[in-house]
Amino acid sequence: MKIRTCLRYPGGKFYGLKKIRPFYNIPHNEFREPFVGGGSIFLDKELCSKANWINDSDKELIIFYKVIQNPITKKQLYKLLENEVANRERHKKVLMIKPKNNIEIAFKYFYLNRTSFSGIMNKPRWGYALGSSVTPDRWTERIEPVANKLKDIKITPLDFREVIEAKSKNDVLLYLDPPYFEASRAIYKNEFSKQDHLDLCDLLKKTNYKFILSYENCAGVKRLYNWANVCDIDFTYFMSEARRQNGSELIITNFTF
Ligand SMILES: C[S@@+](CC[C@H](N)C(=O)[O-])C[C@H]1O[C@@H](n2cnc3c(N)ncnc32)[C@H](O)[C@@H]1O
Repeated sequence: MKIRTCLRYPGGKFYGLKKIRPFYNIPHNEFREPFVGGGSIFLDKELCSKANWINDSDKELIIFYKVIQNPITKKQLYKLLENEVANRERHKKVLMIKPKNNIEIAFKYFYLNRTSFSGIMNKPRWGYALGSSVTPDRWTERIEPVANKLKDIKITPLDFREVIEAKSKNDVLLYLDPPYFEASRAIYKNEFSKQDHLDLCDLLKKTNYKFILSYENCAGVKRLYNWANVCDIDFTYFMSEARRQNGSELIITNFTF
């Protein structure tokens, strides 16, 4: 079942879904997403019969997913979100919270994600738009379908290398959406170095699994992946009814399409 992410995620793939969807029709019975972020692709895609594995090195994001995966801790989180308000003062207060357990970590993560500029969690700045952001009374309604899809899913906070290299007898498809190749500023909690991009390329060259890799459209990536199938895709973002922006991405695969 196709589900929408409950997080605002920088670099999220929500607007590119229509163009990326046809690529994951390739036969496979195990799916792994080493850089899951807000999970737009995992949530959009049908679950696999053998195994489904999502991963991200952002430990708080993974705690959030694990908390909503478990029905008991999910209820405890919903209790904390009850009667919540979105305003600058509350945002400041939540920023100061020192969580004492995983439910509080998940609460802080989700509150700041929903109310900070573009969902950037590295240094969250107030960024809730009155009138267009999802209101706090509807937050749990957005979490619920995501939580249901996470039932029985493997969720880990590992480095991407471990997820790509883990052995399997299944027919594995990897979907990978790493941080930007030419980013001018850090938007994720963990730095991703040039060496990380090169290591990722080496691992994908060697893997026996099928992969779909998303990157921003730039010459450096095209050069690095000149051994694979590289496809340009364009799509439109709707910032609001009146504001549209065009996006351009590369989809790189080791299978012909
Ligand atoms: C472009 S975002 C993924 C966005 C996601 N596709 C979506 O639709 O929301 C890249 C993700 O990689 C994660 N990341 C950064 N370094 C990593 C590493 N070494 N291993 C695993 N994940 C990492 C970041 O935390 C971030 O969530």
